[in-house]
Amino acid sequence: QEKSFIMIKPDGIHRGLIADIIKRFEAKGYKLVAIKVMVPSKDLASKHYEEHAQRPFYPGLVTFLSSGPVVAMVWEGKDVIKYGRKMIGATNPLASTPGTIRGDYGIDVGRNIIHGSDSVESAQREIALWFGAGELAEYDLAMGKWVYE
Ligand code: GTP
Ligand code: MG
Repeated sequence: QEKSFIMIKPDGIHRGLIADIIKRFEAKGYKLVAIKVMVPSKDLASKHYEEHAQRPFYPGLVTFLSSGPVVAMVWEGKDVIKYGRKMIGATNPLASTPGTIRGDYGIDVGRNIIHGSDSVESAQREIALWFGAGELAEYDLAMGKWVYE
């Protein structure tokens, strides 16, 4: 099954949104296979967003993420990368639809609560960056047969 790296950013934690966010992914039918709370190093935060290294907001983004804490997670399920991004909503919260995480809770693009991988390649890179191979749990969800036909 497909896996996505989903991370609640420091603003999401300080605003008390951890349970709400996990609840949405869990209720959808996705399977949580890794989770940890941490204050990422500046090096880790820089690597995570390295595709944006040339953008003007990059230094602020890295400083913000590494201020921590973050909740780093891996969620698994059919099309979780694409659909997870749909649940998260557009990058700028003012452009995202109500009902999405950013649409429901965010206002500023630099405080948009949550990250989600944007492709299979990004997901693989990000999961390997944030988690060791032994940190991903392999198991079958009992509800699986009620979620998938
Ligand atoms: P992530 O899931 O966090 O990767 O967001 P995204 O994929 O929706 O957007 P993108 O990868 O293009 O940008 C990464 C992050 O940089 C965003 O989530 C924003 O927090 C931040 N960001 C993007 N564009 C801007 C901008 O124009 N200004 C500021 N201040 N931050 C930005
Ligand atoms: Mg992105």
